[in-house]
Amino acid sequence: MAVLVTGGAGYIGSHACVALIQSGHNIVVLDNLSNSCRASLEQVSEITGVKFPVVIDDVNDRAALDRLFTAYQIDAVMHFAGMKAVGESCELPLTYYRNNVAGTLTLCEAMKDYGVRTLIFSSSATVYGEPLSNPITEDFPVHATNPYGQSKVMVEQVLHDLVQADALAAVPFWNIAILRYFNPVGAHASGKIGEDPLGIPNNLLPFISLVAVGKLKELSVFGGSYPTPDGTGVRDYIHVMDLAEGHVKALDKLTDEKTSSGCHTWNLGTGNGYSVLEMVSAFEAASGRPIPYKIVDCRPGDIAECWADPSKAESELGWKATRGLMEMMEDTWRWQSQNPNGFSK
Ligand code: UFG
Repeated sequence: MAVLVTGGAGYIGSHACVALIQSGHNIVVLDNLSNSCRASLEQVSEITGVKFPVVIDDVNDRAALDRLFTAYQIDAVMHFAGMKAVGESCELPLTYYRNNVAGTLTLCEAMKDYGVRTLIFSSSATVYGEPLSNPITEDFPVHATNPYGQSKVMVEQVLHDLVQADALAAVPFWNIAILRYFNPVGAHASGKIGEDPLGIPNNLLPFISLVAVGKLKELSVFGGSYPTPDGTGVRDYIHVMDLAEGHVKALDKLTDEKTSSGCHTWNLGTGNGYSVLEMVSAFEAASGRPIPYKIVDCRPGDIAECWADPSKAESELGWKATRGLMEMMEDTWRWQSQNPNGFSK
């Protein structure tokens, strides 16, 4: 099976490339390198011992997609390419809708024209907004509070509409998985690939890692009086390799003859929630470094707590996260301490 991996040079995409290759798939990567670099793909080849085609182009560029689908026989697409910073999306809504929504439309148009039916889409737990309760199941209502989240909600709607339209066709075409990620963290156990955000990180674990290597002075803990056991926000952190393996399981499921069309949604999380302060302590234990922090005001738009009910993915995909909190921390630390400047050596 040849899988096109859009955004394959990015954090989650590069780990998915490793998981795909190690489960015997051929891959072709498409990435515009807007928030990633080619070095991550060289490392993927080093980890797996496999070289693969890399196309530096944009999912928004239909002519580029035509060239790609003509040059390579693609059987399925994993669509990671997209922008993901909540704050930035509030400043640049057009950029977010262009990249995340219009980019997916262009990709789906090209897939349809070239007869590629199988799509695995990177969605996010952000589509649940502030959940009414935890854990969250896939049938909870979806809504968004910022353009990033809205772009995920909109694409999910488009994908459902494609399958809806299939019901009217003589032969259904689309075969789609929507994967709703909780909070991906960690790195490949080799320490060769990991998260390398541009500038000051927005997300918790990349920020803590840079404090640990001395590049940032202290962590600001956003909010200390949430209605949670220690007052700080609680999230469902999932190891990026568990997440990557979940994609391969979803691909297996979609290409299994019994489920050969439709649109399926699966949460990818662990089902466990950890607070910000628990994350700080676990990282200190894994790294042996102190993480100075101060508690500051809540970050606008943040919710108190959110964790997944991952049982649907377990029963339908035979997938379950297996890596615990310490493994997430140790792998993050290995990546960060071996590559204090990320991919720019
Ligand atoms: N946090 C801090 N200080 C920081 C950064 C984060 O205290 O410097 C706290 C947040 O307030 C929150 C927790 O750490 O309680 C996790 O924050 P992240 O920014 O790492 O992650 P979010 O849960 O806010 O959002 C992430 C992704 C979104 C995705 C969402 C899905 O960034 O894209 O998970 O649950 F939609």
